Amino acid sequence: MITTNYLVIGSGVAGLTFSIKIAEKFPNKTVVIITKSDEEESNTKYAQGGVAVVLDTETDSFKKHIQDTLIAGDGLCDESVVEMVIKEGPKRLEELMLWGANFDLDSNGHLDLGKEGGHSEYRVVHHKDITGFEIERALLKRAHQLSNITILPNHFAIDLITNHHVKHIEDEVLTCFGAYVLDQNSGHIFTVKADSTLLASGGIGCVYGHTTNPVIATGDGVAMAYRAKAKIKDMEFVQFHPTALYEEKGESSFLISEAVRGFGAYLRNKKGVRFMPDYDERAELASRDIVSQSIDSELKKIGDTHMFLDCTHLDIKAFKNHFPNIYNKCLEHHIDIEKDWIPVVPASHYLCGGIVVDKEGKTSISNLFACGECSRTGLHGANRLASNSLLEALVYAHNIFKYHSKNQYSLLDLTIPDWNDEGTVIPQEHVLIQHNLKQLQALMRDYVGIVRSNKRLKKAIRHLDLIYDEVEDLYKESKINNLPL
Ligand code: FAD
Ligand code: SIN
Repeated sequence: MITTNYLVIGSGVAGLTFSIKIAEKFPNKTVVIITKSDEEESNTKYAQGGVAVVLDTETDSFKKHIQDTLIAGDGLCDESVVEMVIKEGPKRLEELMLWGANFDLDSNGHLDLGKEGGHSEYRVVHHKDITGFEIERALLKRAHQLSNITILPNHFAIDLITNHHVKHIEDEVLTCFGAYVLDQNSGHIFTVKADSTLLASGGIGCVYGHTTNPVIATGDGVAMAYRAKAKIKDMEFVQFHPTALYEEKGESSFLISEAVRGFGAYLRNKKGVRFMPDYDERAELASRDIVSQSIDSELKKIGDTHMFLDCTHLDIKAFKNHFPNIYNKCLEHHIDIEKDWIPVVPASHYLCGGIVVDKEGKTSISNLFACGECSRTGLHGANRLASNSLLEALVYAHNIFKYHSKNQYSLLDLTIPDWNDEGTVIPQEHVLIQHNLKQLQALMRDYVGIVRSNKRLKKAIRHLDLIYDEVEDLYKESKINNLPL
């Protein structure tokens, strides 16, 4: 068993930002970060476009960014949250830069600002087209400098520990006391007892077979919180990114950033028709939900598998400078963007809903906080505005830190039983679990995709109930392991 003051589940932008702040403020307190893969593996690492922040106040304003966010969210954002996050943006970005994150500069030495769908102004701060990689690098470097932070890679959080596990306080307020964690190297499950627990476990992209997300994005944190009876909301608002690279064989997950459309690229169908102006006056720079739905509609009309992104009219030298990663990835796929159109298709990208939190990141369970993509703050409404996610994580990590600076917890004298796996055995038929996962991904793609109907959703629920029963049966009889699926 490990005891710690702060348990953080996840080492992306949300988990690392909170950890650094709290560890700096309380050098005598301990922070344990549990992360199920290598420490840098996260959605954060793959973020391309950047962080949306109002910096150029001559052309831009908080008011415009707020308005763009509300429009993208389709009337379902919490306006006070939108205002709070956007106004905090510049301060949080500055802090990130003080920790060593580098962003591109323009010829005048000011931060270079890109544009993406739904934004009325240029306001996306970026590091080439690998902004997330740079942020993750800088945060990990800072976290490693702090001796009171311990990062445990290849450790998989299985379940939150609540009153349900600690028998003698059954009737008290629902409280979180830490988590049960699988050490994936030894196969051993142990208890992490914590004064305060932060879920920063990211999104759910891999619930769909075709996603821009890496394999770690399986919604574990939302599932753990749901099982512990925390409030969850807006799970239907899954955002599909319009332009994942299409590959004939296999499910591509490589993203062609929306910033490429911000740079002037056109969407065309295979006949060469630029179709977006027919759907929205903002054309390729309409918000993501609209562009994805329009592509879906074109695909159905033409009976095709993909559309194209045309960059051939752009300044290729400038393109290579801004998007070197995308340029090279396309070349690997024998696509020379100077001459060829990039085949693209929408893919699941981001979870707008999740674990309900207030402005201080508090969930409905005492001593349990959530931050980043696993949380539902009210910022995004039905559809997140591009590059508002990294921003949200930075702002909420700060708010959760501020709350912890004023409110101290101490639960460490409790007795928590060890993980009980009596009566379970190592599963002999791993293929059954693999099969359930593939079924789930196909079902979500076919029945719960970009455009939905009651008929398809009812069908999905029937199939999901079956999968649920099969998984429950397997879970009850199996020793937990993390064999690759
Ligand atoms: P993540 O960065 O996903 O981190 C989650 C962490 O939790 C990981 O370390 C993971 O291993 C760990 N974890 C998960 N489950 C468990 C478990 N059971 N036990 C232990 N550890 C666990 N947003 C923007 O604002 N701008 C962009 O330009 C942008 N581009 C994007 C491009 C791509 C390709 C993708 C996929 C997303 C992009 N996003 C962008 C979205 C943004 O990157 C994410 O929403 C954000 O990084 C989420 O940060 P996070 O810290 O909440 O989660
Ligand atoms: C992108 O670069 O297109 C992704 C931006 C985002 O998800 O916010």
